[in-house]
Amino acid sequence: MSESVNNREPLLDISGLEVHFETRRGIARAVNEVDLTLYKGERFGLVGESGSGKTTMILALLRMIKTPGFIAGGKAVFDDGTDLLALNAEQVRQTRLKRVAMVPQGAMNSLNPVIRIGEQMMLTMREHGEEGERDELMARVVGLLEKVGLKPEAASLYPHELSGGMKQRACIAQAICLNPQLILADEPTSALDVVVQRQIMQTLRQLQIGLDATVLLVGHDMGLMAQFAERVGIMYGGKLVEVGTVSDIFRNPQHPYTQLLISSIPSFETRGDFKGIPGVALSLLDPPSGCLFHPRCPKATDACAQREPTLKEVSPGQWASCLLHEEEHDATAS
Ligand SMILES: Nc1ncnc2c1ncn2[C@@H]1O[C@H](COP(=O)(O)OP(=O)(O)OP(=O)(O)O)[C@@H](O)[C@H]1O
Ligand SMILES: [Mg+2]
Repeated sequence: MSESVNNREPLLDISGLEVHFETRRGIARAVNEVDLTLYKGERFGLVGESGSGKTTMILALLRMIKTPGFIAGGKAVFDDGTDLLALNAEQVRQTRLKRVAMVPQGAMNSLNPVIRIGEQMMLTMREHGEEGERDELMARVVGLLEKVGLKPEAASLYPHELSGGMKQRACIAQAICLNPQLILADEPTSALDVVVQRQIMQTLRQLQIGLDATVLLVGHDMGLMAQFAERVGIMYGGKLVEVGTVSDIFRNPQHPYTQLLISSIPSFETRGDFKGIPGVALSLLDPPSGCLFHPRCPKATDACAQREPTLKEVSPGQWASCLLHEEEHDATAS
């Protein structure tokens, strides 16, 4: 999946990414052979029901998976050949914020409650090797706050003196303080009200364009996703089951799971929360044979319980992992 999209160059090539959690009842494959290329300057949205592996995938890219989880395989190679998954601890530290930064799930709680916002940002910059006088760094902090729509005075406030939306903006300012190439944002607005959500997504979008960074946004709200992202990936049970442009995914979904998701959204423009679909939720500890989705799939055939599909390009730039398409694909290829 590495040819250019909209004439963009690849930034990060993820292949065969596997993350396992060792539990008393066995191994859960939380991220299961994920292949995905992210392009320079694109906004990519990752959606999927709770437990489908979105956060785990982001944490793997940041090398932040904690026991009982571990990265069991795969690569995540930057355009200069650096494999994020092969770095040692010191190299990982140097990559954070400078190349890859995260706006975490529930980011607002990630600020230190007893340190003023400006001070926290300066500390972060220093920890990551930024030198310079206090005044110089503070001027940069103020510039960053302005970029995310906060007044300079916010620098001298404590987190509890900011509203939820303002705290979220401060977290975004912190994430971009060293001009990362890749920003991983895990449901950055899920705890906020709808109006504030939209404003923050707008800010994130302007920043992304200004920095020419790549943003991987995880979200539940399909409406917000449709507004923000250029391409979307759908995860099910740790697998990426479909990838395509927003308009292909919303107007012409190819995977039966995506089709069910899209049909459960009231309309393209309205806010549509990601809803569950019928059927028994997947157990990662006791996964079905063949295609993980087959027990819930309205289009499943006998073959789906036998064979595992892989992502295939079903139309230019749109990929789906479904045997229905594999058979078509095989038929046209032979
Ligand atoms: N500490 C843990 N121990 C055991 N299993 C875990 C642990 N953390 C995650 N998992 C497994 O990883 C799977 C994926 O979890 P993850 O948090 O990545 O999902 P998600 O898609 O981000 O969900 P959500 O939308 O709720 O944030 C879970 O279903 C669970 O099986
Ligand atoms: Mg999550």
